[in-house]
Amino acid sequence: MSTQSPADLTLEGLVHDLNNVFETIQEAADLLAKDAKHARLAAALRRGVSRGTRILGSYLEYSQELLDFELILDTATEFAHDFLRAVKGPRIEFIRKLEPGLRLRGNPAAWERVLVNLILNAAQAMESDGTVEITATRTAASIEITITDDGPGISPKVLPQIFEPRFSTRAKRSGLGLHIVKTIVENNGGSVTAANGHSGRGAVFHIQLPQ
Ligand SMILES: Nc1ncnc2c1ncn2[C@@H]1O[C@H](COP(=O)(O)OP(=O)(O)O)[C@@H](O)[C@H]1O
Ligand SMILES: [Mg+2]
Repeated sequence: MSTQSPADLTLEGLVHDLNNVFETIQEAADLLAKDAKHARLAAALRRGVSRGTRILGSYLEYSQELLDFELILDTATEFAHDFLRAVKGPRIEFIRKLEPGLRLRGNPAAWERVLVNLILNAAQAMESDGTVEITATRTAASIEITITDDGPGISPKVLPQIFEPRFSTRAKRSGLGLHIVKTIVENNGGSVTAANGHSGRGAVFHIQLPQ
């Protein structure tokens, strides 16, 4: 156990109590898993719990590891599939065009949050089945990540505001997702921009990170 006193007891307390909540859900999922007909639901619950635990854990650690981009993307798309299945959302096909061996520096849970928020936004914008394309490449100076959907795109009127905290055009949404994305990307020395595809349809989010 660390002998150092925590910088923020309120935050540490919150993390502690939420971990208890996750433990309870985990136990319920374990029970559910014993019934074969609920195996899929139990697996989705377990993945949700471990995602929640990872996010919480990321608040108390400041690791700067080198992370395999493809593995983070696997976890993020898996969560998006679980989410869409749970809300009976459209069927989304994820197309990947990734430079092999790409690595990001930082905290794995934080990068997972970036990808999950962008992928879920894309999926939520889509009125029917569609595709989300994720590309990642490396240049001499930077890493470039692009997430493109084939939904209706972002209205030019709101485009300048979408990264502001609590800005949302959707009923019952927090409007925090893109603000979280921007904060994490900028904390890692990068930048994120949004635009629409050439035809005016489909949103395109572009992240640029230093190598
Ligand atoms: N892929 C997308 N396609 C169309 N509009 C989007 C997309 N992503 C984000 N937006 C717009 O940006 C707004 C802010 O997104 P976000 O910060 O994630 O908040 P929320 O999802 O809670 O509305 C959304 O309400 C929506 O208007
Ligand atoms: Mg969102």
